Parts: sequence; structure tokens; C-alpha cells
Amino acid sequence: MAVKALEWKDGALMLLDQRVLPGRVSWLRLTIWEEVRDAIRDMAVRGAPAIGVAAAYGLALAVQQGSNFEAARAELAASRPTAVNLFWALDRIASLSDLSFDRVLAEAQAIEREDVEMNLALAAHGATLVAFGARVMTVCNTGSLATAGHGTALGIIRTAFAQGLVSLVYSCETRPRQQGLRLTAWELIQDEIPFRSIADGAAASLMHAGSVDLIVVGADRIARNGDTANKIGTYMLAVCAKHHGIPFVVAAPSSTLDLTIATGADIPIEERDASELTEIEGVRIAPEGCPVFNPAFDVTPGELITAIVTERGVNRAPYEF
Ligand code: MRU
Repeated sequence: MAVKALEWKDGALMLLDQRVLPGRVSWLRLTIWEEVRDAIRDMAVRGAPAIGVAAAYGLALAVQQGSNFEAARAELAASRPTAVNLFWALDRIASLSDLSFDRVLAEAQAIEREDVEMNLALAAHGATLVAFGARVMTVCNTGSLATAGHGTALGIIRTAFAQGLVSLVYSCETRPRQQGLRLTAWELIQDEIPFRSIADGAAASLMHAGSVDLIVVGADRIARNGDTANKIGTYMLAVCAKHHGIPFVVAAPSSTLDLTIATGADIPIEERDASELTEIEGVRIAPEGCPVFNPAFDVTPGELITAIVTERGVNRAPYEF
């Protein structure tokens, strides 16, 4: 768990800028809540649990600045719509009876600490689903960078690898932002876990070839019936997994459960700027005038999911969280 995405230090939120990894390891020092809002929106910090932790520290900064608390809360909430951890963390802070700086900061630190604890617990539960020698496929980045530490789906892979269970990881590139190629690969190299990065389009043929034993993915929001929003392309993996009889596991802390909604139809799906698709590292690769549709997430129906693992254990349909 050497990698850390964020920490509170000397009155500021320190964020490892995930937009420039792995090429540059650059820390941002954020001292006003507006910078936190922008960092979430621009994906300097990303991954549902990490977004929640950052937003909580954003409110601590708002109190420190003497800003209007409700205005800061509303703008932080508007930074990204899909990951429910953002709203969960903001609501948890807002429900405090004492909104003094010390109390808000302590709660943000508790949210950070508890996220690591939840990830370690869910990873231990998830590892029970990993067979000896398993070749595990994953998508996006769900590791230490996406959380307060250890990770969710990647946390399961870490824990199962430490137990000698995982023989190889297939890490999907995850276009358009390439969280798999840039961030998951970076974490796997540091942990010396054997892996292959693959183009997203290679996933189905690997499954067909019998090269994948298990797929583990993270989540941005899970509805009561198990419908799960996660990085765009996750649904495609789940459909292919069903076709090939491969177990498809979702991993998330309980802060990712949205028990206010019955199904995934009520999950807001973020659409991001066309430039994420038309450019790579600022270099335009699409023709001028190319129309784009760029949803950041999709919803995998609960019936395609073999199990949903939280810190409380392994859940199977019909889900009762
Ligand atoms: O757009 P991102 O990079 O924030 O999307 C991240 C994901 O989809 C993750 O799988 C999810 O947030 C879980 S992170 C533990």
C-alpha cells in the first residue's frame, strides 16, 4: 500500500495529480475548496472513494476559509455526478452537529481512515472467491490511487496475490482516459504483480481463448437490486463474461451503495468532454468536426453480476445490502 492518492498536511489537501501519472509524480497543494472542486472535476483525483475523501477535505477547507458552507457543499456535489461516495461524504460532514474546523477535519480524516479499513476487509472477503492460480481481468483503476488506500477490485487482487492465488492480471487499457494503462499498470509494477495491459477490445477474445478465470471490477454506484454503475466498458465485460461462463465480481465499500434507488435506471451517467476521445495527451487524433458521444460510465444489470463484495461480506442475488 505504498502509493497514496491524497493526504491532509499542514493545513492543506495534498493530491497526487493523476492526470500526469505515470510520467510525472507531481503533488498538488490545495488550500481552498474551489481548488478541490476543480481537481475532482478535472480528474486530478478520481475513483469513487477517493473523490468522497477529497470532497470531505474540501468542506474542511471551506470552513477554514470562512466560506459559505452550503454553497461549497453544493458546488463540490456538482463536480461529478455518478460516484455516490461524493454525496455520501458530503452528507456525512453536513450532518455533523458541530461544523467547527476541528470537528469537520476530524470527520474527513475518519472518512479517509475508514475507507482503508473497509477496503482491507472487502479485499479479504473477495479473496475467498479467487481460485489458486487464477488469471484475473480488471478494468479502470480501483487501487490505492482510487481510494484512501489498498483499493477495491485491485485490493482483492492485491490480497489474493499476497495469498499466492493470482497468477496473472489482465488490465484493460480503459479508453478514453486510460486509467488501466496509466494507473493500474503503475500500481501493479510497484507491487510486482505479474500482468498484461490489454486494449479494451482484446478482452472478449481472451475470454474465448479460456485465458480468464475471474473478472473483478469496482463500482461508482450500486442500486438496491445490484445494478452497478462503473467505468464505461464494464457492461461489455459483464456480457462477455456471462457468455463465456466466467464469474463477474463487483467490489465496493458500503459507501458506494445507493439504497435510495431501486434500479440502475436512476443512476445519473456523467458525459465528459469530447476532447477525451478526440485527443490523446493533448494531441488531436480525430478529424476536426468529428461528433462524439463520451459517457464516462455504464450500468451493468445485477443479473450479470456473480457477487458484490463489500466490507461486510460477499453478497449474491437477490441482494440484501
Ligand atoms: O472516472 P473515474 O476514473 O473516476 O472512474 C473510476 C471507476 O470507474 C472506478 O472503477 C470506481 O470509481 C471504483 S474506484 C475504487
